[in-house]
Amino acid sequence: MKTENNKVTVIGLGSMGITLARLLLQKGYQVRVWNRTPEKAAELVKEGAILTRDIAEAITASPVIVICVYNHEATQNILRTKTVETLLDGKLLLQLSTISPKEAIESESWAAEHGASYINGGIQAAPTQMGQPDTPILISGKERTYLAVEPVLKVFGGAISYLGEKIAASPTVDLATLSYIYGASIGFFHGARIIESQGISVADYANIVAGISPSFGAFLKHEGHMIHTENYAITESPLRISVEATARLEQTALEAGINSEFPAFAAALFKKAHVAGYGDQEVAAIIKVLREQ
Ligand SMILES: NC(=O)c1ccc[n+]([C@@H]2O[C@H](COP(=O)([O-])OP(=O)(O)OC[C@H]3O[C@@H](n4cnc5c(N)ncnc54)[C@H](OP(=O)(O)O)[C@@H]3O)[C@@H](O)[C@H]2O)c1
Repeated sequence: MKTENNKVTVIGLGSMGITLARLLLQKGYQVRVWNRTPEKAAELVKEGAILTRDIAEAITASPVIVICVYNHEATQNILRTKTVETLLDGKLLLQLSTISPKEAIESESWAAEHGASYINGGIQAAPTQMGQPDTPILISGKERTYLAVEPVLKVFGGAISYLGEKIAASPTVDLATLSYIYGASIGFFHGARIIESQGISVADYANIVAGISPSFGAFLKHEGHMIHTENYAITESPLRISVEATARLEQTALEAGINSEFPAFAAALFKKAHVAGYGDQEVAAIIKVLREQ
C-alpha cells in the first residue's frame, strides 16, 4: 500500500543518483525524479519512476527529498530559488552530494530558515556497491531527522555510521577517508610504475595489493588508536624503518628512471620526523610532524 511515507524525490541522476532512485523503486517506494538533463531518467521511468521536469513539483511531491548532484554549487543552483524556498516548510532534505564541512553547516542553517530538516550523508562506496548490508554511509545531523530518514538510508546501504548531531561530522570524516584513499591510490599507482619498470604483471601486483589490504586496514586501526591515546612507544613498527623504506623508494625510482614525486614527498616527511627525534617511536609519531604548520 502506498502511504505518504513511501514517497521520495531524488534530485540528481548521475551514476549515483540513478542508483539511489533504482534501489528505492526496487523496495516499493513511489519515486519522483528530477534532473537538469531530464533525458537521463528514461530507464528509470520504464522501471516505474515518475519524471518531473518542474523542480517545484519535485519538491511538493514527497516529504523526503534526496539530493545527489555533483557538488554544493550544483545543489545551490537547483534549490536556492525563491520558488523552491517557499515549498520547503516541513520537508526533510537528505544531502548525499559530497560537500565540505563548512558547506554542510551553511546548508543546515539555510534549510532551517525555510522550515526544512536537513541531514548530511557521505557515501563511501561506488554505485555498483550500493544497497548491500555492508555498504558504508556516514551520516550526521539532528537525531530525530536521522531516525525519520533511517528507513530510506537503509535502502541505500546497511552499514550506516551515525556520527552525531554536528552536521559537519559526516563531511569531515568523508574528507579524512578521501585523504586515506587518495594517499593509498597514489602509492598504488607509483607501485604500478615500479612493477612496469621491471616488466612484471601489474594485474598480478593488483591482486597481491587486494589480498594484503585487510591486514593493512588492521594495522592502520592500531596506529589510529596510538594517536588517539597519544602513546608512541614502539608496538608494531618503529618510525626509523619507514625513514629507510621511503628513502629506498626514492632512490629506486631515480635509478629506474621513473617518476619520483611520490617517494620524494614521503621520504621528505619521514626524514623530517627523524630529524625531529621521532625515529625510535612508533611510526604513528609522524602525526607530530603533520601537526606543525
Ligand atoms: N559515483 C561515485 O562513485 C560516488 C561515490 C560516493 C559519493 N559520490 C558523490 O555523489 C555525487 C554525485 O556523483 P555522481 O557519480 O552521480 O556524479 P555524476 O555522474 O557526475 O552526476 C552529476 C550530477 O550532478 C548534476 N549537476 C552537475 N552540475 C550541475 C549544475 N550546475 N546544476 C544542476 N545539476 C548539476 C548532473 O546533472 P546532469 O545530468 O544534467 O549533468 C548529474 O545529475 C557527488 O557529489 C559524488 O562525490 C559519488
